[in-house]
Amino acid sequence: MLKTCDILDEKDKRLRQVSEEVVFPLTKEDHKLIDTMIQYLHDSQIDELSEKYGLRPGMGLSAIQLGVAKRYFVVVHELTGPDDEEKEFDTYVLVNPKIISNSMEQIYVTDGEGCLSVNRPVEGIVPRYARVTLEAYDMEGNKVQIRAREELSICFQHELDHLNGILFTDHIDPKNPFKNKDSMRAI
Ligand code: CO
Repeated sequence: MLKTCDILDEKDKRLRQVSEEVVFPLTKEDHKLIDTMIQYLHDSQIDELSEKYGLRPGMGLSAIQLGVAKRYFVVVHELTGPDDEEKEFDTYVLVNPKIISNSMEQIYVTDGEGCLSVNRPVEGIVPRYARVTLEAYDMEGNKVQIRAREELSICFQHELDHLNGILFTDHIDPKNPFKNKDSMRAI
């Protein structure tokens, strides 16, 4: 079972490399890794399980965060609201993803973005497109097109950055962490 401490920390240089395009088919190891990533992201968002296993909650992980420099990531996106009894999730596994179009409008997370590789509080605004359309491949190598907005759009952009060796903290100007705040919408 994947634990929080198995995820590379921002100090690890491997997070800075540009991951390689995947050549299909995915290997057995890739499938195994994807399964453990999905399980982690799912369990970490269920209060009882995250407490029981000490999992820091997260909704996205890229392969490089587990030391595998291949262009794929997993997102487990909660669909339910705070009052729903059972949580429901959508799971995305995107291979060789790229943004093919984006909105002009930009948004940012009011409370600041988070990352399972960044284990400290970081203040500041990360500008993201409000809406993106991605082209990617599923695990079997079929081409897919996905539209995302709001939180999911931010998450995809965050994970895509990981594949290019970029962390969300890179987008924040330390001298002026709330720069251009008024030209973007907070979510
Ligand atoms: Co991250």
